[in-house]
Amino acid sequence: MTQYKVPVIPGDGIGPEIVAEGMKVIDAAGEKFGFDVDWIEYPHGADHYLETGELISEDTLKELSNYSAIYLGSIGDPRVAPGVLEKGILLAARFYFDQYVNLRPIKLLEGVWTPLKDKTPKDIDFTVVRENTEDFYIGIGGRSKKGTSKEMLEVSRSLYSAKFDLDIETDSEEIAYQIGMISKEGTRRVIEYAFDLAEKRDKHVASVDKANVLSDIYGFWREEFEDVAATHPDVETDFNYVDAITMWFVKNPDWFDVVVTPNMFGDIITDLGAMIQGGLGLAPGGNINPEGTSMFEPIHGSAPKYKGQNKVNPIATIWAGSMLIDQLGETEAGASIVSAIEQNIIENNVKTYDMGGSSKTSDVGDDIARIILEE
Ligand code: IPM
Ligand code: MN
Repeated sequence: MTQYKVPVIPGDGIGPEIVAEGMKVIDAAGEKFGFDVDWIEYPHGADHYLETGELISEDTLKELSNYSAIYLGSIGDPRVAPGVLEKGILLAARFYFDQYVNLRPIKLLEGVWTPLKDKTPKDIDFTVVRENTEDFYIGIGGRSKKGTSKEMLEVSRSLYSAKFDLDIETDSEEIAYQIGMISKEGTRRVIEYAFDLAEKRDKHVASVDKANVLSDIYGFWREEFEDVAATHPDVETDFNYVDAITMWFVKNPDWFDVVVTPNMFGDIITDLGAMIQGGLGLAPGGNINPEGTSMFEPIHGSAPKYKGQNKVNPIATIWAGSMLIDQLGETEAGASIVSAIEQNIIENNVKTYDMGGSSKTSDVGDDIARIILEE
């Protein structure tokens, strides 16, 4: 029997209860398909931070880099200032492991209600490939009071006034700035990943940018996209401004197969994507380094107010678990989890509170596990 060791970070809020369902389902898939997972639990999250002052240490990250996939619940807690845990644990891991692809399937399962009128599972089935380590997420920014950073004041005053000779108030009391950076290598590798994926799907890649305004950064993105596209003549492509693509996701989701996007736009459009596939409770994600350590998680947050009530939707996490074992090479088992999720929704009319019903978190996991074993 194949043995896998998988670190699991249940995290905060509802994290532990949803990850428990995910492990239950993966264990069932293992029983069915002949592998066994040894779960290695890590305590990182708000409690650990409040007790020890540690977010996640470099030693721990180094230790985790011995594994090819990590299972993550959710991070975030009202006792800690917003961003501290998210940046100190989640983003730290994404950057440390160089998980340059954030893979987010947008797929409407049979039996799930979508707010898009007259759209069916045939219309909503695409994958967003979000760049995950660059852009406005690199963490370079700051604030300057008048006179304290002459350079930044120069920047702020030169932007439009220099180009168009506008009379803009130049002597602000204080400015704030954040730098977005994309590299040639960083851009190419994620775009290449998107094309490779499209080759296995419907051979269409849509690129997202805002090259009409943020032309330095996203003009560069477009050039790299065109270069990579030239090496895949059989794949159809198009460019989409980020504002426009939000409209097309709603109006014509069937146009999309693979969507490749810079980091920040990807963050935004995948919440929209989650809604059209039935809500955040149904949206999984994988932070992927194909040659290193990947990490799988629901894309929703830790929903602290629902903690411990056995009512939240574990499907996003269970689905992320299917992506995890797929990454480990257990493709058949991975696919069986997604079809069991779907079968459970159709046959048992499963609806957790977010889907308008009162199914219990633990029952959803039990039922999916049972379906896998019975099939
Ligand atoms: C996500 C989240 C994160 C992000 C936050 C929590 C740092 O919104 O995974 O989409 O912005 O990437
Ligand atoms: Mn997000």
